[in-house]
Order: sequence, then C-alpha cells, then structure tokens
Amino acid sequence: VSRIGVMTSGGDAPGMNAAIRSVVRACAYHEVECVGIYRGYQGMIEGDFTDMDARSVRGIINKGGTILKSARSKQFMTPDGRKKAYRHLMAKGIEALVLIGGDGTFTGGMVFNEEYKFPVIGIPGTIDNDIYGTAYTLGYDTALNTVVEAIDKIRDTASSHDRLFFIEVMGRDAGDIALNSGIAGGAEEILIPEEDIGLDVLLDSLKKSKSSGKSSSIVVVAEGDKIGKNVFELKDYVEENLPLYDVRVSVLGHMQRGGAPSCYDRVLASRMGVKAVETLLEGKSNFMVGINNNKLDLTPLDKAVKGTHQINKELLRVADIMST
Ligand code: F6P
Repeated sequence: VSRIGVMTSGGDAPGMNAAIRSVVRACAYHEVECVGIYRGYQGMIEGDFTDMDARSVRGIINKGGTILKSARSKQFMTPDGRKKAYRHLMAKGIEALVLIGGDGTFTGGMVFNEEYKFPVIGIPGTIDNDIYGTAYTLGYDTALNTVVEAIDKIRDTASSHDRLFFIEVMGRDAGDIALNSGIAGGAEEILIPEEDIGLDVLLDSLKKSKSSGKSSSIVVVAEGDKIGKNVFELKDYVEENLPLYDVRVSVLGHMQRGGAPSCYDRVLASRMGVKAVETLLEGKSNFMVGINNNKLDLTPLDKAVKGTHQINKELLRVADIMST
C-alpha cells in the first residue's frame, strides 16, 4: 500500500481530529502518502480529496469536530454511488481506507470491501459508545465530561428551587452516556434503553427519595429510553401522578458532541490512528481497531457491525445503590 485515504463519517465526535492527525503522521512516518476525503462517503462519490502531509494536521489535536467534515451519505448506499466512489479512489491512486465513524460508516466500508475488494480499517468514532468490540469509542469520554458538567450546573437550580429535573442525554439506542454521567452526576434515577424499569417503579422511587428527605432530584434519561414516549411526556406523567415536585426538562442536545477532546480521547485517537495505518501496511483489511483492557486489538468489521454492545451490569447495580 503506498497511498491511504482517511475520512470521518456519521455524527462528529471529539477526538476525530486527533485521529486524522495520527493517521496522517503515521503515514508520513512510514513514508506512505495520505489523502484526506471530505464529508465521508459523499466526498468519495464526488472526488472531494485533499493531499495531506505531517504539517497539514498541525494545531488540530485539541479541536472538536472534524477538519475533514462529516456526512451521512444516502447515495453511498446505492451500487451506483459506490461505483462512482470506487472510480474516484482509483483515479486518485488511493489503495486503502481508514474510516473513522460508527456503525453506519463500518457497514458502508464492509459492503464496499465486499464489492471491490478494497482494503478498509475502521476506527470507532462516536460519542455513543455503542460499538461492539471496543470498550471505548472516540469522543465518548469527552461527551461524558461535558454531560457531567451540565448536570452539576443544573443541580444548582434543582436544589435552589426544590425541583425535579429530567435531563435528556444522547446515545441513540445505547445507555452508556446516561448510565455513566448519571452515576458521576449523582442522579436519583437513570433511565436507559437496556433496562426498562417501568413508570410505577419510577414514581415509587421519586416518592421514596422525597420522603427520605431529598428536596430536589435529577433523573438522567437516555434519548433511546422507551419508558415515556419522550422526556416531555414523562414530565407530564410525573406531574399528573406525583404532584410532589416542580418539574423541569432539560435536553442537552448537540452540545454533547462538541468541544475540545479530553486527554483520554486524544491519546486513544493517537493510538488507534497508528494501529489502523500499521494494520493496513501489514496487508490486513476489514477490521476495526478497538481498545479492551487498555490494549489495542482488532475485531472483524462484520462482527463490530453485527455484534451487540452490552451495558455494564455492575454499573447498573452501583447506580441503584448510590440512589439509596
Ligand atoms: O451518533 C451520535 C448522535 O449524536 C446520537 O447520540 C444521536 O442520536 C444522533 O447522533 C443525532 O443525530 P443528528 O446529528 O443527525 O441530529
């Protein structure tokens, strides 16, 4: 392999820039050319490329977002879109790809690899931490810290006004952000898609915490949780059935995806970028780089896509005990 393409795709996540930097510098170190692809698969289809050298990634390790921009391309899901992408890659002399993104990104990479035998390696980049085969995805640690900071601030108002706050956090279908930020932010209840506690249990728990002397409460709700249809309906339900609290809702939204990456995400991105390039140079393809027990490893891309990421059961128990 003498020329590697790198792109970011799907939802952006803090640490993507650090990963791009790492891929570009690992290429330079191994004297391989590196080409940046703008807007993920969409840029591939349009041939929107930029040559990158070690200096072109200066000053980005601490920046959120992605300098290569990101998109979710519908066109790449069609054979025609993929054919266009393949032709542009060939014309540019790109021989292998490093794909930084989540599930959708890896599915696209797998299909492309099957159709064109094109070497691809994935780096998990999403705040959701919902990928099988890695304990951490890039951006997750940063997002957690952002959420915990937000919960701390909201708690000031909750306790000053004796209020109950429902705080909705991101995570798509995964409860990792909610569970971890909920524990760290001292939430009374944490609602996640992986464990449906039911409305009765929620009401009961809120009643108990009031009678145990708590005057305010924080409930962290994962956006994928199905206990109420949405967090506002949950508020209405609790107000109707438990008129003990003044209730407010705060949806944290996309602020969770931005900001400077944490030290952990920067180091992880640097490690994963090197591993991705060196894996391609060893002639391997169709893997995702992951981190497990603080060691980098490789998971076949199809396993990463089809496997189900599990919630940490021990954390569920700790959360339960902490809300006593
Ligand atoms: O995958 C990252 C994520 O932020 C999810 O947590 C959320 O469900 C989704 O993307 C939001 O997508 P969009 O940016 O298209 O609103």
